[in-house]
Amino acid sequence: MISNKPRPFQPVNSLILGIESSCDDTAAAVLKNGNQLLSNITYSQIELHQPFGGVVPELAARDHLRQIVPVIEKSLQEARVNFSDLTAVAATRGPGLIGSLLCGLQAGKALAYAFQLPFVGIHHHFAHISASFYCNPPPTFPFLCLVVSGGHTSLSIVSNFDSIQIIGNTRDDAVGEAFDKIAKVLGFPYPGGKYIEQNAKDGNIKTYQFPKSMPQKNTLDFSYSGLKTAAINLLKNSAITFNKTDFCAGIQHALVEQLLRKTLLALEKYHLSRLVIVGGVACNQYLRDTITYEVKKLSSRNEVFIPEKKLCTDNGAMVAMAGFIQLSRGIQHDFSIDAKAYLPL
Ligand code: KG4
Ligand code: ZN
Repeated sequence: MISNKPRPFQPVNSLILGIESSCDDTAAAVLKNGNQLLSNITYSQIELHQPFGGVVPELAARDHLRQIVPVIEKSLQEARVNFSDLTAVAATRGPGLIGSLLCGLQAGKALAYAFQLPFVGIHHHFAHISASFYCNPPPTFPFLCLVVSGGHTSLSIVSNFDSIQIIGNTRDDAVGEAFDKIAKVLGFPYPGGKYIEQNAKDGNIKTYQFPKSMPQKNTLDFSYSGLKTAAINLLKNSAITFNKTDFCAGIQHALVEQLLRKTLLALEKYHLSRLVIVGGVACNQYLRDTITYEVKKLSSRNEVFIPEKKLCTDNGAMVAMAGFIQLSRGIQHDFSIDAKAYLPL
């Protein structure tokens, strides 16, 4: 086991480098004192994967390898700091694509080793949740957290940083995956979630009927494969008079409706009044507006926290914040920590 005897972490006057590379974004950010985001750089591989209609793991890993050093250097340049000014390093360690994860994690460990800095490996899901602490004001405990991304759809009760209890999970596709697969059949580039949103503007949600997905009230789990198949079948059997705008509005409404229904159920069941929504699909304005409106309608005491859009998709800022949280709680890792494709929260 390699050890470089890192300095202890001090939250005051801290300067953390956060690195994210779990999928197809190479990202790095610098966070000062746990509340000032000095830089947040993301290099997206979208164009590389677009011809294949999805992320190709081997290509992703190779591109991370090319981009990781320039992205880290740019994050320091924009923050106007040097490597020697850093006081800690955090990097995503899983879950995700193993080759992608290894690039960011190894780069982070190498830097921490070279500059004798405290290091912490971060769970990608925990990083998304940590993005909510950039909200002003930030959420207070306990809160319900809805994670909606390309890989996750889950509801959890966050009582404190030691206790994150998952109470609902997807049984098949994640909501982002459903958005993207339907978008692909519609002919939109990958990842197509945002194109469904753009095309849904001014559409009529009632023109096309979609089945009510996961209607059971006794589970907080999600399922999107039925809705996805229904949407794709409808597309394949549609007539020449097919209205793309109405279709996008209808499917967007149906996808968000399940999230909303399960979220309201969870808030009531667990008597929670604060909701945090994170993950790439939280960029969707229809989702942001609809869930915020309905949660506040349920009770005027309810509060909703959604990070600004650039902090919802994968980014280095959320890893830097997660690093600040973990390091402040005394959590550090030595350099034997490894990347994990599957990693429980
Ligand atoms: O969190 P994220 O960047 O990566 C994962 O950890 O998966 O989420 C990416 C997902 C993709 O499925 C993408 O289509 C979706 O977020 N997404 C959206 C929108 N923007 C991104 N889905 C619907 N509407 C959007 N505006
Ligand atoms: Zn993510």
